[in-house]
Amino acid sequence: MSPIIAPSILAADFANMQREIEMINTSEADWIHIDVMDGVFVPNISLGIPVVEAIKRHAKKPMDVHLMIVHPENYVEAFKKAGADSISVHLEACPHLHRNLQQIKALGCKAGVAINPHTPIAGLSEIIQDIDLVCVMSVNPGFGGQKFIERTYDKIRELKRLILDRNTSTKIEIDGGVNQQNAKLLVDAGADVLVVGNFIFSSPNPKEVIHRLKTISN
Ligand code: DX5
Ligand code: ZN
Repeated sequence: MSPIIAPSILAADFANMQREIEMINTSEADWIHIDVMDGVFVPNISLGIPVVEAIKRHAKKPMDVHLMIVHPENYVEAFKKAGADSISVHLEACPHLHRNLQQIKALGCKAGVAINPHTPIAGLSEIIQDIDLVCVMSVNPGFGGQKFIERTYDKIRELKRLILDRNTSTKIEIDGGVNQQNAKLLVDAGADVLVVGNFIFSSPNPKEVIHRLKTISN
């Protein structure tokens, strides 16, 4: 099965955002991944609600919003209004994760949970049936262009077993350091969605890179 490809606009040229979104629109990419950082949950600040609104004005593909922020419950409604189709919150930032997921679903969005590299899959066992999308971080969140953490393959296999065991339709998304070398191994391990930042946007031919990732299992 070909993976869902979600270019991460964190690696795009922010001064030419419309051009970058149009590149994604006319490519084989499936989603647009948008990283929101608050400088508290992660040691970096990226973009906020007005930028998501601006992207939405041009985007022809679903917008997958990854909230690396504390107290996401205060902002999910605004991100939905700005155009989010799926919203992921971090397990580590949410002591009342079940409530966060109910809130996101009540807004009509797909509900995602992102987990840091040190967070065990076992922490999802009581909530997996309520999650549409698990975003497995394969780098420490906060920055693009980092080195992929090899332990991720085992986590994907364990998560896939949990999903099959509980008979849920939860998708597995991998975020961080994804490239041509590891993409097929990730899909073979059970990944459904590949978030790809620098590997796409640093290329002179991003659409060709997206095509090669999309057809990685052919
Ligand atoms: C990291 C972000 C990622 C990042 C991926 O905190 O969540 O989405 O943009 O970028 P690359 O593919 O460059 O690692
Ligand atoms: Zn992300």
